[in-house]
Amino acid sequence: MIYIERKERFSAAHQLYNPNWSEEQNEAVFGKCANKNFHGHNYTLSVTVKGEINPDTGFVMNLVDLKNIIKNEVIEALDHANLNHDVPFLKGKFTSTEVLAQEIWKILQPKIAEHQAELYKIRLDETLNNAVEYFGD
Ligand code: NI
Repeated sequence: MIYIERKERFSAAHQLYNPNWSEEQNEAVFGKCANKNFHGHNYTLSVTVKGEINPDTGFVMNLVDLKNIIKNEVIEALDHANLNHDVPFLKGKFTSTEVLAQEIWKILQPKIAEHQAELYKIRLDETLNNAVEYFGD
């Protein structure tokens, strides 16, 4: 088994906010992230795929195909978007890095499986210091 990784970057705005809570509660839990006027991040999405090497190509999966899947299925929807308002697959959800990583997994997993490879990990870096890794369970 061998692992390959593709990174893509996107920039987006969001707000962390629980609509069932008072403004004070939101402020207390989410701090500046609850800012009504939103704030932005430059995210790095790293997608790791595992599989066996195809004897006809030497590849687990063609990285051009992986790049196109990531771009078409998620980056196009997320880049320069307001994650709370603009992204259909995030409607009604928290826009935390954790939730984003899980939703990205759900979208990419079946598309990658079409290429005889298996999604292994989604890593989403929200800042230089904060990142989430999701392995699908
Ligand atoms: Ni934030």
